[in-house]
Amino acid sequence: MPASSAVDHSRHTSHARLASWVEQVAELTKPDDIVWCDGSDAEYAQLAELLVAKGTFTKLDEAKRPGSYLALSDPDDVARVEKQTYICSESERDAGPTNNWRDPAEMRETLDGVFAGAMRGRTMYVVPFIMGPAGSDKSYVGVELTDSPYVVASMRIMTRMGSVALDQLGADGAFVPCVHSVGAPLEDAADDVAWPCNADTKYIVHFPETREIWSYGSGYGGNALLGKKCFALRIASVMARDEGWLAEHMLILKLTSPAGAVKHLAAAFPSACGKTNLAMLEPTLPGWTVETVGDDIAWMKFDAQGQLRAINPEAGFFGVAPGTSYETNRNAMRAIERNTVFTNVALADGDVWWEGMTATPPAHAIDWRGREWTPESGTPSSHPNARFAVPASQAPCIADSWEDPDGVVIDAIILGGRRASVVPLVRESLGWEHGVFMGATMSSEQTAAAEGAVGALRFDPFAMLPFCGYHVADYFAHWLSMGERAGATLPRLFYVNWFRKDEQGSFMWPGFGENSRVLEWIVRRCDGEVEAVETPLGLLARPEDLDTTGLDLDPATLERLLSVDLAAVAKELPQVRTYLEGIDHLPAPVMAQLELLEAAVASA
Ligand code: GTP
Ligand code: SPV
Ligand code: MN
Repeated sequence: MPASSAVDHSRHTSHARLASWVEQVAELTKPDDIVWCDGSDAEYAQLAELLVAKGTFTKLDEAKRPGSYLALSDPDDVARVEKQTYICSESERDAGPTNNWRDPAEMRETLDGVFAGAMRGRTMYVVPFIMGPAGSDKSYVGVELTDSPYVVASMRIMTRMGSVALDQLGADGAFVPCVHSVGAPLEDAADDVAWPCNADTKYIVHFPETREIWSYGSGYGGNALLGKKCFALRIASVMARDEGWLAEHMLILKLTSPAGAVKHLAAAFPSACGKTNLAMLEPTLPGWTVETVGDDIAWMKFDAQGQLRAINPEAGFFGVAPGTSYETNRNAMRAIERNTVFTNVALADGDVWWEGMTATPPAHAIDWRGREWTPESGTPSSHPNARFAVPASQAPCIADSWEDPDGVVIDAIILGGRRASVVPLVRESLGWEHGVFMGATMSSEQTAAAEGAVGALRFDPFAMLPFCGYHVADYFAHWLSMGERAGATLPRLFYVNWFRKDEQGSFMWPGFGENSRVLEWIVRRCDGEVEAVETPLGLLARPEDLDTTGLDLDPATLERLLSVDLAAVAKELPQVRTYLEGIDHLPAPVMAQLELLEAAVASA
């Protein structure tokens, strides 16, 4: 008799299907124990204590950073593994050219093999969670079964976890089943390591038709916190396609003008390209305020009045640590002063440190690999994809509307990427189809958020390249169809680039709080208060319309930032064509937009 059948699930849920699925997974994975999570403070305290005892967590100095912990991962388990991420739709066509497809039946066999006995010697936690505010008609429930207490602690921060989710589920509510194992069964508990994972075998698997997630071998971030990229983007994007809404890799911010006028903006930038920073921006323009609704994911639906309303499905921020400082993102720094889990940053004098946190590095630290570190070490103290996990409610900039079950009305959508050249600071699309073309052809230099060569240019449509759970051409068609909704008030579409560099390799635009100057221009465009220069690439800002008061930026640089070099664009167009031609079933309007651009550039 498996040890697991000793657990009486009916004590925890009246949901028979949930109880029998838990039992079924336990029979396959053979954990020593099953623990149902209630999401209470006491449970979190117990988990943290266990993680400290296991050596996964180091408690930070209570006087310096109360309630906070540092985890150091296995050096080979530091980011999302896109090559081992699979979409197992019934038909290969539905996964499309941007996803790794596997036949679902074959994949189920493979998973049955790797998950058999995978949790031996460990506890299986049952982690019910809501993505979205409790009680919202825009929220969905998931249940993650995991053998990683680090994942449980992180899910407690990042989602509405525990009894609240079981209550929403009731006796027969729908939930997305998510199974996670670090893939390191134990013969003897004494053999455990601080960060168990599987060095050779990793599978991050999605079954879009049955809305299921199976993740094996990694304990890090989006690979393991299954509510985030796996559910809220890959599975939710399929649900959104089927049900007529949008699940996007976007921040949501609330912007208030000096006159008190409120607008909500959503913005899609690829991983580690500035969403958290923009969402928490402190405007340098006097009188403006930014408040945060979300920093990574937006679920958006049209309401009965035809307005696009967005919720943040998450309850926490899992933000990039390096580069975060009181100068660049004071709101994030204040949020993480307490009750925060840090992963892969340095430990210095009982507190955390990372590159860019302070101008002067500590004289001595323990680096993210657990080694002695000094500023002379010649290696970074923190992994470039080191992160903090913190409850969203702790951010001083959190918007009062952030848990509004109805969501906030989106007035404009901003797209953008990390481009050292060619792409101007800001432009508006020439219309919805052109905006979809801009999103479809977004390109960005790769960051450390996923495995791969940092800096390599890649197309990252709508910042969803690693996250769209279905055929990217159908995704573009879905975006086009949103623009044809009868009676809908469509948000305007913009494209920004904070990352232009000069010949010396320095950023030409100061970025961060100064990005408020660009937000102001966007608001003025939405309100019809300002003209723009029509170019084949979109509507550009005139230098005199960007408020640069108090900014140390010479007019020639501003001119360059705001203009397009058509010769440089012409050089990139063959790459864009090859990329789009590589997408089968591409909607005709997207190709038509490219042809318009090619013709305009050729005749310029
Ligand atoms: P994910 O959580 O991976 O989806 O990333 P994100 O889009 O939220 O990225 P984040 O805001 O954490 O920014 C990542 C990096 O970009 C950090 O190192 C920031 O310091 C840097 N960054 C953000 N905004 C700006 C900016 O306006 N200018 C410059 N130069 N760098 C920026
Ligand atoms: C990203 O990579 O876009 C993230 C971090 O937001 S993770 O949750 O690891 O995907
Ligand atoms: Mn992200």
